Amino acid sequence: MSEQQLEDYDDYRTTDVLVVGSGIAGLAAALGAAREGCDVTVATKATRPEGASSWWAQGGIAVSRDDPEQFKDDILTASADTADPDAVDVLVDGANDAVSDVLVDTLGVDFDTNGGAETADGDDWDFGREAAHDEPRILHVDASTGKAIHVPFLNYLDDHDDVTVRDDTAALELVSHEGRVHGALLEHEDEVTPTFAGATVLATGGIGDLYSRSTNPDGSTGDGVAMAALAGADVADMEYVQFHPTVYPGSDAEGDGPFLVSEAVRGEGARLLNAAGERFMPEYHDDAELAPRDVVARAVQTEIDATGEVVLDVSPLDFEGEFPGLAAKCDERGVDWESGIPVGPAEHFLCGGVDVDTRGRTSLDRLYAVGECSRTGVHGANRLASTSLLEGLVWGLRAGEDASDYDPEVVEAPELLDRDPALPDNFAREKFHRLRRTMDEYVGLRRSPDDLGRAQAVLRRLKGEVDAYVRTRTARSLYELRHASVTALLVTRAAAENGESVGTHNLVEEPAKTQAD
Ligand code: SIN
Repeated sequence: MSEQQLEDYDDYRTTDVLVVGSGIAGLAAALGAAREGCDVTVATKATRPEGASSWWAQGGIAVSRDDPEQFKDDILTASADTADPDAVDVLVDGANDAVSDVLVDTLGVDFDTNGGAETADGDDWDFGREAAHDEPRILHVDASTGKAIHVPFLNYLDDHDDVTVRDDTAALELVSHEGRVHGALLEHEDEVTPTFAGATVLATGGIGDLYSRSTNPDGSTGDGVAMAALAGADVADMEYVQFHPTVYPGSDAEGDGPFLVSEAVRGEGARLLNAAGERFMPEYHDDAELAPRDVVARAVQTEIDATGEVVLDVSPLDFEGEFPGLAAKCDERGVDWESGIPVGPAEHFLCGGVDVDTRGRTSLDRLYAVGECSRTGVHGANRLASTSLLEGLVWGLRAGEDASDYDPEVVEAPELLDRDPALPDNFAREKFHRLRRTMDEYVGLRRSPDDLGRAQAVLRRLKGEVDAYVRTRTARSLYELRHASVTALLVTRAAAENGESVGTHNLVEEPAKTQAD
């Protein structure tokens, strides 16, 4: 270590593979590398398990039944033919093996069945249906599939001799040297420690904190995308931000946030009604409520703007019997689901991210990205339902295996100018507020060229204000703000540069009525 490092840091660690993030993609990468005999460190901001997006996943995990080609077609069609067919092949061809090996055989996940005797090939599984799927092909556990996978996965890795999970530990910045990534600066309880790794796998999830309404857990600040981009890695498809159409909006006044009402509920027959009690989706798409998610999200917003409200009418199904978890959640929040659940669009998933190949390799040596923070090409401009857990699992395993070939090297770490962790009062809160207003108003479901120009100007200013503090303070909230502002700029710039309305990227002429700045 150099003199500078000795001055800046009390300690450092080494590991063969550093995984940043603890959703299904990160855990699969850890498993893949540990199976190759590596010593693996998983660093996660989450004080688990609810801090990872995967825990919140409701619908399930799609698998390939009798007709894999149809599954591939569904993914391509939902993406408006913008997904990469080679990546889709990797996903679908690897789906069943990964699910049986890891989820069923290793973790023992108890997917719902139809109640008969379970067969080895899962013939008795109760395959669910979701929008834009040609057939029911979704394995699920009630509508709490994420939790049912994530908890045993964490427990399994906790017991694994070669894996160390560090909770409440944020990655602030990658350590890179001469074009190669050697780990990251990790912060835990205000202490910053470099962790040097043979390979580094980013699995930091989504960007929900960039919008005021999202289905992601708090802390979804785009860390992996921003750290990779700041280190010089390529990112792609950043303009493709998916909004989920059926999110109960919550109430700011009472401080209770939004919650997702799974697409699986529409798969079982629920209908969308406007404030006049009219079913409107058949006017927007032949597949009505089961149209691709971007189409349904825009239609719901249009009807809210025109009539004041949209509700999800669950009377065609046995809601309480089929979705007990969701019914209980409604009861707990005082939502009278028998009269229809008020819903609207909310940010849900970033289809783009750090550009990776079929093994999760980024454009930087020894840096990998998996799960929502990566752009594999599987989703193109709009993701098909229940493919995100699958993508995280398939790419996580592949990346973990590939990342297992390297030994850690101790190199010079980024310089810290000041050890004071504190920030001025309200600094992060005020800047986050400005960032979210900008993204909500200018970079949401509908985007106009003028608004995207305005948003870039606001975000550039904001990033400048944040950068002035970086490395002079080590507060986690400062780095989260930095990551959020870098990611917001990447989304906005990509949206401004793409003149084609496609999938989730919907261009309109009219600027928004309000000013975020
Ligand atoms: C849902 O349950 O509606 C979400 C599923 C997904 O995002 O794939």
